[in-house]
Amino acid sequence: MAQYYYRCLADLALWKFGNLKVLQNYDNAIFKIRFIPKIVSSFAEVIILLLVSKLLIVNKFTPTSESKLSSVDFNNIPFGQVFSDHFFICDFKDGEWQTGEIKKLEPMSIHPGNLAWHYGQAIFEGMKAFKDQDNNPVLFRPELHAQRFNASARRLCMPEFPEQRFLESLQQLVDIEREWIPPSKGSALYLRPLMIAMDEAIGVRPSANYRMMILCLPVGPYYTKPVKLITEQEFIRAAHGGVGEAKAAGNYAGSLQPAQLAKANGFDQVMWLDAKEFKYVQEVGTMNIFFVVDGKIITPITNGTILKGITRMSAIEYLKSAGYEVEEKLVDINDLVQAYKEGKFTEAFGTGTAAVSTKIAAIQHDGFLMNLTEKGHPVATEVKDTLDGIRYGDVEDKWGWIVPVKSSLEMS
Ligand SMILES: Cc1ncc(COP(=O)(O)O)c(C=O)c1O
Repeated sequence: MAQYYYRCLADLALWKFGNLKVLQNYDNAIFKIRFIPKIVSSFAEVIILLLVSKLLIVNKFTPTSESKLSSVDFNNIPFGQVFSDHFFICDFKDGEWQTGEIKKLEPMSIHPGNLAWHYGQAIFEGMKAFKDQDNNPVLFRPELHAQRFNASARRLCMPEFPEQRFLESLQQLVDIEREWIPPSKGSALYLRPLMIAMDEAIGVRPSANYRMMILCLPVGPYYTKPVKLITEQEFIRAAHGGVGEAKAAGNYAGSLQPAQLAKANGFDQVMWLDAKEFKYVQEVGTMNIFFVVDGKIITPITNGTILKGITRMSAIEYLKSAGYEVEEKLVDINDLVQAYKEGKFTEAFGTGTAAVSTKIAAIQHDGFLMNLTEKGHPVATEVKDTLDGIRYGDVEDKWGWIVPVKSSLEMS
């Protein structure tokens, strides 16, 4: 218990007086604190700090004794398969979130009757930590990921994870795993927050217990060749009133079979249409979509069936500021075909955390193939260069999208 309070105090010191000297002994995980006497001089002040620190939410940190870092080749990282040493874990029990912990990532034991496995109460997020020009870790609009995580939680009847705790836990984890951020430009530490139901029971109802976790995976530069899409006219991704706007695990399970069929027919991904009339474009695989028609940029309006992409939002803000006309509206695939035939539909691109923007080489609808390579994808390139530039500190961050990761404990 004493260690816990030392830790609380250390973190309190960190957040309140970032310059305090805090000694951290990783070998035995006992944290000793040495305050600069002028700042905290009396025993009474320490007691007050301890009491206040009890009110703060602080994650326990149990370091692993063996790091896998030296065995990873950062020049050759298979996407999604290499995990860092530690992860964040926090359980929701008795109606509240318990103390979180950052500890060694290892397999966990879960009851076969776990509700998430049977009824799909599972949500996630996808975001990245980068290194800026001074080699310091930064996050891109993390608060929007926290908010979207909670919007997904609400839709699936799961408890929200307080935004501040989400952000602080992310900061603490990325700080601890900072050496896992690959050094080369274009690489990043992929962050995967997720929440699953934890009740051990069979029966369709919301779980009473949950587990929130954050995993870290180093990933290499994400270069994609321009992709070929086909509209889907039998299967759907989302209908009005469904869970399309949530980042629910089940949405991805449902997309697998149509994606497999599209691949078998020579296409890279499915372009989803609305569930009622099969004519309004929704999104693509794991990306939002943009079209350039007559020099104007149009993108499907997020009306409850489309994931509100954070890259989409950022691309819209950037493009508008760069003087482009951008319209969010219902996009009828038949209008796109007509515009293509008239030579007005010249470019399309997808946006998402993984690749920022992905050029679209062609779209097939109803057997009619629209080739979109002729103009050379200038807008897709501009969006990627700008958003990547902001992430790596090469382009001025006029919007304040970049959030530096604070160093939590000054090692001595
Ligand atoms: C279905 C879907 N649409 C769009 C996106 C793009 O969202 P973001 O830009 O927040 O990564 C993603 C990726 O998270 C996704 O899974």
